[in-house]
Amino acid sequence: MDHFLYKNGTLHAEDVPISEIAAEVGTPFYVYSAATLTRHYHLFTEALSPLPHMVCFAIKSLSNVAVLKLLGDLGAGMDVVSGGEYRRARAAGVPGNRIVFSGVGKTRDEMRLALTGGIRQFNVESEPELHALSEVATSLGLTAPITIRVNPDVDAKTHAKIATGKSENKFGIPIARAREVYAEAARLPGIEVIGVDVHIGSQLTDLAPFEQAYLKVADLTRQLRADGHDIRRLDLGGGLGIPYTRSNEAPPLPLDYGALIKRTVGDLGCEIEIEPGRLISGNAGLLVASVVYVKNGEGRDFLILDAAMNDLVRPSMYDAHHDIVPVVEPAAATEAAVYDVVGPVCETGDTFAKARPVAPMHEGDLVAFRSAGAYGAVMASEYNTRPLVPEVLVKGDHFAVIRQRPTFDEILNRDTIPEWL
Ligand code: LLP
Repeated sequence: MDHFLYKNGTLHAEDVPISEIAAEVGTPFYVYSAATLTRHYHLFTEALSPLPHMVCFAIKSLSNVAVLKLLGDLGAGMDVVSGGEYRRARAAGVPGNRIVFSGVGKTRDEMRLALTGGIRQFNVESEPELHALSEVATSLGLTAPITIRVNPDVDAKTHAKIATGKSENKFGIPIARAREVYAEAARLPGIEVIGVDVHIGSQLTDLAPFEQAYLKVADLTRQLRADGHDIRRLDLGGGLGIPYTRSNEAPPLPLDYGALIKRTVGDLGCEIEIEPGRLISGNAGLLVASVVYVKNGEGRDFLILDAAMNDLVRPSMYDAHHDIVPVVEPAAATEAAVYDVVGPVCETGDTFAKARPVAPMHEGDLVAFRSAGAYGAVMASEYNTRPLVPEVLVKGDHFAVIRQRPTFDEILNRDTIPEWL
């Protein structure tokens, strides 16, 4: 459930008409609902209770500092994958002891930043990283709390570009080698082993792969404890999928996912950590665009929008489906028109949808892409020198621009012409 509903024939974000935001901010823009973000975060905390737990929002999915502050103030932890994301979490007021550092390529500078600024744990993904972290921590007179991310070799049954738990993927340490690597970790002076980490992929719409992975983690935890490691925290990653259409697709609910966690690892007495991104942010955001032209092509009509692949790359990158809806609801009897929905970027890949039934549209009409809160604004670029799309946060009847659209001067002034040219 989200808080983007039609009221009096106009799509609203909570109590604010989308058309009102468009008039003030211009299009395209992203808009997020505070109530939806809050609700989704609470679904997870309720699903994991009464187990001791922390829900660490995967901020790669939506990293605006205002959104992080909203979630951080609710008590959320943060899963970061770069020094930049670490800085965002801290700028949002999240204390270091609620920040988890994931990712296969943490640099020594990033390790130093997190160790000195405060960190809940590093999820270590390789032996070279383990040694680097021990060296950096020792040089600072500190100890780095870690889990090791194990690769359980399960098929997450999701898009190949976002599956991470198969042995051929770059992520984690093969679970078969985990005991050996934990033994090595325990010998390193700058390292304190506290737990196990796993993340098998994103947009999972079936609980079975989670179950396979978590059962393997439970077995491993028992073995590691028998080997003498004090395993007290399990980071079970993110990845729970969301409905991208309003039709019959119904991924498992956080409550079912929580029950699965309790069933598979609940008896180990560990603190449970999860790193959901998409389920919290995905259906909490829309991308709003205007129709620039309706173009009649050969056997098809093109709806040309002022948003493009640089603003929302998921359709061209993953063939992802986003529902596209008119901001002004058509009259009940109106028959849908069928469009290829495209942006103005000079590539055929700049296509949001083919042969998509939408209400009949005209120049200047507003449309909204649903489920665009996750991996939307964060993956935007300025390709074709199109300014980064602004972001708006709505709470009740308030709205605020939480990232301004850059001016062309700002964009051009980032480039410098060397004096010898
Ligand atoms: N933890 C780790 C270690 C991850 O790599 C990810 C996502 C998450 C948590 C959060 O997963 P989520 O709950 O959001 O599924 N850009 C792609 C998705 C990439 C996901 C990368 N890792 C997309 O637009 O579908």
